[in-house]
Amino acid sequence: MIELKNVSKTFRGAARDVHAVREVSLHIEAGEIFGIIGRSGAGKSTLVRLINLLTRPDSGEVIVDGRDLTRLDAPALRAARREIGMIFQHFNLMSSRTVFGNVALPLELIDRPKEEIRARVEKLLAIVGLSAEADRYPRQLSGGQKQRVGIARALASQPKVLLSDEATSALDPETTRSILDLLKRINKELGLTIVLITHQMRVVKQICGRIAVMDDGRVVESGEVLSVFRAPRSEVTRTLIGDVISLELPETVLQRVRRRIEGRNGDGHPDHLLRLLFVGDDVDRPLLSEAVKRFRIDFNILHGQIDEVQDQGFASLTLLANGSQESLDGAIALLREHDVTVEEMDHVL
Ligand SMILES: Nc1ncnc2c1ncn2[C@@H]1O[C@H](COP(=O)(O)OP(=O)(O)OP(=O)(O)O)[C@@H](O)[C@H]1O
Ligand SMILES: [Mg+2]
Repeated sequence: MIELKNVSKTFRGAARDVHAVREVSLHIEAGEIFGIIGRSGAGKSTLVRLINLLTRPDSGEVIVDGRDLTRLDAPALRAARREIGMIFQHFNLMSSRTVFGNVALPLELIDRPKEEIRARVEKLLAIVGLSAEADRYPRQLSGGQKQRVGIARALASQPKVLLSDEATSALDPETTRSILDLLKRINKELGLTIVLITHQMRVVKQICGRIAVMDDGRVVESGEVLSVFRAPRSEVTRTLIGDVISLELPETVLQRVRRRIEGRNGDGHPDHLLRLLFVGDDVDRPLLSEAVKRFRIDFNILHGQIDEVQDQGFASLTLLANGSQESLDGAIALLREHDVTVEEMDHVL
């Protein structure tokens, strides 16, 4: 549906040039909800504006629905843009127009007949749950309601793609959840492809199937949300995942472990710090007690957290393991056999 090939964008400045997007290649399938996540300044908004050519790339190709947008003339580009809706953090509604008037605007701009506009707007307001607010003005709406208007307006021209740039960043967690549920529903019901930009992993884990992580203009990793969570490859991804599940051990826990190791004075087998990440069904299996029984190993649980990612359980467990090297290797192998990610963390001690 969307293919970016080696796309770059540099903003030329008097003092210095900013390489906002560097050689990014991405493939987004029709009907998926694809997340682009990164810290502030990573280049996310620039990248999303490259997808509808609000910003022109210096080099590379932007192919949407089979056409390279960079090669279209102005009228063809305008038509192509109607297939790409967009929603924003600050909603960008017209304060002088009612809810109805805001949603009708894109249709008025392309001169659709009045009756057609009325029917279409009423249908859109029903989809986003705002039928009763049609005659209100933006200032009379909550943030969540304003974003629903933004979504209805973006859907007015029946786009195939919806770009969402931090659409929930100005909303509280509960409203965020309801807007994300709405996006999920229109993705399913209308088969809309959604590209969702955010700096919050919490948002991504709720609705995205695949994600790309951006840092300093580059895509530093991409893949299924669960595999990225399970085995983050870059530091920036780990930090962003910390938004959902902390991958760092609290300093107080580390100190306790260090005191315990010192106290043992090298007697017996050494302790090993392990972090386990469980996904999905593994969470319900008694793998740990199996490892304890089979390999006579002691586990001391230091820290645990559980969350849901893509409707699947996702848990992290940090523990101190004690036993012979052979038993430890056996236990780790057993866990890995059952798709538990085991990280040996002795280096942090
Ligand atoms: N029109 C512009 N002119 C000059 N520099 C720009 C322009 N737009 C963006 N930049 C710069 O490009 C870099 C990437 O900006 P961008 O807005 O794409 O980041 P972002 O990931 O969306 O950040 P945020 O999470 O804060 O929205 C930043 O250094 C920014 O200052
Ligand atoms: Mg941005």
